Amino acid sequence: MAKIYADNAATTKMSRRAIDTMVKCMEEYYGNPSSLYEVGQEAQEKLTEAREKVARLLGCEAREIIFTSGGSEADNQAIISAAKLGAKKDKKHIISTAFEHHAVLHTLNKLEKEGFEVTLLDVHENGLVTPEQVEEAIRPDTCLVTIMYANNEIGTIQPIKEIGKICKEKGVLFHTDAVQVAGQLHIDVKEQNIDMLSISAHKFHGPKGAGALYARKGIVITNLIEGGAQERGKRAGTENVPAICAMAEALEEACEKIEKKTAKLLEMREVLIEGISKIPHSILNGDKEKRLPGNVHFCFEGIEGEALLLLMDDKGICASSGSACTSGSLDPSHVLLAIGRPHEIAHGSIRLSLSEENTMEEMPKIIKALEEVVTYLRRISPVWRDLEQGKVEHII
Ligand SMILES: Cc1ncc(COP(=O)(O)O)c(C=O)c1O
Repeated sequence: MAKIYADNAATTKMSRRAIDTMVKCMEEYYGNPSSLYEVGQEAQEKLTEAREKVARLLGCEAREIIFTSGGSEADNQAIISAAKLGAKKDKKHIISTAFEHHAVLHTLNKLEKEGFEVTLLDVHENGLVTPEQVEEAIRPDTCLVTIMYANNEIGTIQPIKEIGKICKEKGVLFHTDAVQVAGQLHIDVKEQNIDMLSISAHKFHGPKGAGALYARKGIVITNLIEGGAQERGKRAGTENVPAICAMAEALEEACEKIEKKTAKLLEMREVLIEGISKIPHSILNGDKEKRLPGNVHFCFEGIEGEALLLLMDDKGICASSGSACTSGSLDPSHVLLAIGRPHEIAHGSIRLSLSEENTMEEMPKIIKALEEVVTYLRRISPVWRDLEQGKVEHII
């Protein structure tokens, strides 16, 4: 059975261009970029080209890019660097939101144990925070605001430029996790008042295990890995040249296609949202407009998310109930709880995340499969029986 892959927020299939770049690099530029002889220097040149390309696509200078192993490492490094800088000035207050990725939330938890105070802004039911909330939360001892550009589960896009402007005016560092955004929306860190930004190659058809941190020049970055002087002393370890080059290529390709891709994704997204909304007792999560073009996220009453996904898989459809790292755990998604969804319905959720590889013909198939699976699961659910018999009131 031909699979329909609708889990591109978890990871994407590598593009042909990225694979070709990676293979070419492995075959031809195999030297260690730190080696002084020609073979090494050729690899160094490839690294420089990739850095310049990524910098151009993000609107910054090449020396403001640090290559990392992915989004998690970039998030950790940005937050820990800002915390260290803050601690030096006795500024130990950090602002974030309750629905960040765990790479951010767990780093903040760790800092709390080290004496930092963290304010997690409430997220509105539509999955957005406002610049005013950020402004109100900033204190004289705030050293960092870290707010994700777009949420990995419900896809909502935050007013990043406005938040960055407030941080700039108040002299507070601003980091954004743009892992779900790079290659989907145009990013210009200078224009958008962003001090630090994280990206991850495998979310835009590049390889897994490669990412980057943009850090505005002048911000002293803490190296998390001790060793050699790679990445201007900010990240030790021989650079993964093939993956870095493939990432730069994939980002370039994704950015070149943004306009065309967005139009296609929006069309498919609207068909899905319209079709799925017709399933009784279902609700769309996240703002209808201010969301990533390929993101569709629904909750269903009386449904258990894991069963939903497994049965969808049986029908050849790859989807997710939340972020890749939390599916497999029985806790309801912290993102859905943060936007105020009660536990009962937060358990019955599905995220469909599309890429340009998806086709319009797939959309009715996804909707039909979902209708069938939801109907079947409700038929065998004691919770649903109680709801239908009026013993328990419907929430949606
Ligand atoms: C918003 C967000 N931040 C960070 C990460 C972590 O990125 P990586 O898998 O490259 O470590 C992810 C991946 O799911 C993500 O969606």
